[in-house]
Amino acid sequence: MTRPLIIAVDGPAASGKGTIASRLARTYGLPFLDTGLLYRAVGMGVLASRASLDDESAAVAVARSLDAATLSDDPRLMTGEAGEAASRIAGYPGVRAALLDLQQALAHQPGGAVLDGRDIGTVIAPDAPAKLFVTATAEVRAMRRWKQLTGRGDAIAYEDMLADIVRRDERDAGRGAAPMVQADDAVLLDTTEMDIETAFDAARRIVEAARVRNGL
Ligand code: C5P
Repeated sequence: MTRPLIIAVDGPAASGKGTIASRLARTYGLPFLDTGLLYRAVGMGVLASRASLDDESAAVAVARSLDAATLSDDPRLMTGEAGEAASRIAGYPGVRAALLDLQQALAHQPGGAVLDGRDIGTVIAPDAPAKLFVTATAEVRAMRRWKQLTGRGDAIAYEDMLADIVRRDERDAGRGAAPMVQADDAVLLDTTEMDIETAFDAARRIVEAARVRNGL
């Protein structure tokens, strides 16, 4: 029996991983999950319930009652506030445990799937035959995010964006529970000098090589 084509795409904020992952899913006709949305929804759910982001049990309760089917089109989840809230609650082991089954079930469908996040290649699907770790310098990532947010009318200074990105990287990489780290068998894709087309072509070549290697 052939293994499912699970494509794990990890990396820091604004590295290009979300765009690359969703385009890979379209290219290979696979289901796609942006796992950051789950954490963003939990963070915003905690804020909506007027609990503190420091309240681990409140965050775990929100994570356990999360309805993943309702997430995809909520623009509030794409704000800087949601990203920051997500990164605050993502360090709680109980939150990560509550979101584990849903992610693993999606990853391990018979035909495979594409997931993007921070711990897909290390925790959610360590058995994935194709793993990418997509990154870029903090300055380039901050500039991309700044252009995106100011382009849609948000007033934010580049320096604040850079500080946010650096703080989030440190928190995501420094936490004890499932820290953001490149899996040993993931291929590093540094998109600092690449536009999105070049980055996507490079990602597709990495997946093609993994398919050949694994007979998929
Ligand atoms: O990828 P995105 O920016 O949407 O993720 C928001 C936050 O959610 C990240 O900064 C990280 O703290 C958390 N996250 C995580 N594990 C994942 C996906 C996201 O801890 N698999």
